[in-house]
Amino acid sequence: MSDKKATLTIDGREEAVELPIYSGTLGPDVVDVGGLTSQGMFTYDPGFVSTASCESQITYIDGGQGILLHRGYPIDQLAEHSDYLETCYLLLYGELPTAAEKEAFVGTVHLHTMVHEQIRTFFNGFRRDAHPMAIMCGVVGALSAFYHDSLDISDEKHRQIAAFRLIAKMPTLAAMSYKFSVGQPFMYPDNDLSYAENFLHMMFGNPCEPSNVSPVLARAMDRIFLLHADHEQNASTSTVRLAGSSGANPFACIAAGIAALWGPSHGGANEAVLEMLEEIGDVSRIDEFVARAKDKDDPFRLMGFGHRVYKNFDPRAKVMKEAADDVLAELGITDDPLLEIAKRLEEIALSDDYFIEKKLYPNVDFYSGIILKAIGIPTSMFTVIFAVGRTVGWIAHWNEMISGSYRIGRPRQLYTGYAQRDFVPLEKR
Ligand code: CMC
Repeated sequence: MSDKKATLTIDGREEAVELPIYSGTLGPDVVDVGGLTSQGMFTYDPGFVSTASCESQITYIDGGQGILLHRGYPIDQLAEHSDYLETCYLLLYGELPTAAEKEAFVGTVHLHTMVHEQIRTFFNGFRRDAHPMAIMCGVVGALSAFYHDSLDISDEKHRQIAAFRLIAKMPTLAAMSYKFSVGQPFMYPDNDLSYAENFLHMMFGNPCEPSNVSPVLARAMDRIFLLHADHEQNASTSTVRLAGSSGANPFACIAAGIAALWGPSHGGANEAVLEMLEEIGDVSRIDEFVARAKDKDDPFRLMGFGHRVYKNFDPRAKVMKEAADDVLAELGITDDPLLEIAKRLEEIALSDDYFIEKKLYPNVDFYSGIILKAIGIPTSMFTVIFAVGRTVGWIAHWNEMISGSYRIGRPRQLYTGYAQRDFVPLEKR
């Protein structure tokens, strides 16, 4: 915080309005416009392009420089030296764990991987062809109907248990939503396996045979979870905070986050990337699709390109591209037609003036889709996997808000509808 002030002069008013300016550790200063209401004015910023909705100490992004820090640590260092659960600890508690703290944390997450047995029957209410994200919106929200002992948001212990439950149970529910769609038996978690191994075991294992999870694929899966763990005030995290600001329970808030993540402009993009590559179908048609993406009258966009914040490169995409290379080499995939289209598309977009001028670079979802496809994950599960990884970010932000001082989120509007008018009886309309 600082003593700096901004002065706002308003047409037709003699006195200027003084607004406090706050400085963070990093990033642009913010002008506190909270006092404007008393002047009979609101600010207008659709899409929150230049509005900070809260104060946070969890994650910092510099979109111009391509920097992403979790609690100060660069994402590439975490991706190289850490693992998903250690990063979860960091996001939740603010520091890297000691060896003993890590062991205790991982052990507790493992203790919570099973879901209430009755949740298994809950799945039967869904159609077999339900999208797994539709199932996740429902079953994660339904956790609040099963775990009544962790719903008191004013109790720090309850919040902790809810956090453990959500992080631990998300892979189990995610794998169940897949198994349900293919008519295979649900797999119980195996707590001797790591977080990522366990997820792959529950996705691809079956009760008749021992699971055989490749360490390279498990490492890639762990990196995907890690690279999606948090991304400050994005649409889904802001949704979780907004839902939480009303005092809603954590399971309901995370279900709200899952719903916001589902859209193709956000987490749904990784699924949309693969669908787009399939629609393009052949390298010979790339130019046609690039032309469509540039056409102002055509709503088509190149999925997996561009980002609201990153206007240089997405640092997660850099790590994800390396992980994609590792996975493709491990699996010996060299001649996949969709990968060929993806590589060519990346080259064209990176050298095309339209994409260069608008600073549209491949984002994390462009490469994560490629890895997930190579691992054998069905396209409809891509966004679910994003949700599994992002759960810790949602909880860390929710907990940060609830344990500090906060008010219910209640944006205002610029009303452009009718002024007051009298009701017209039916026979006179
Ligand atoms: N293909 C073609 N043109 C694009 C694209 C694209 N993917 N993205 C942005 N543009 C153009 C857009 O038409 C606009 O042009 P103009 O200035 O002439 O009107 C300009 O670039 C700025 O776009 P915008 O929509 O104002 O930018 P935004 O910050 O509101 O949107 C975005 C960011 C990610 C929603 C957008 O780039 C997009 O729709 N990308 C494709 C979907 C995608 O990959 N989303 C995943 C984001 S990363 C994962 C996550 O964090 O969820």
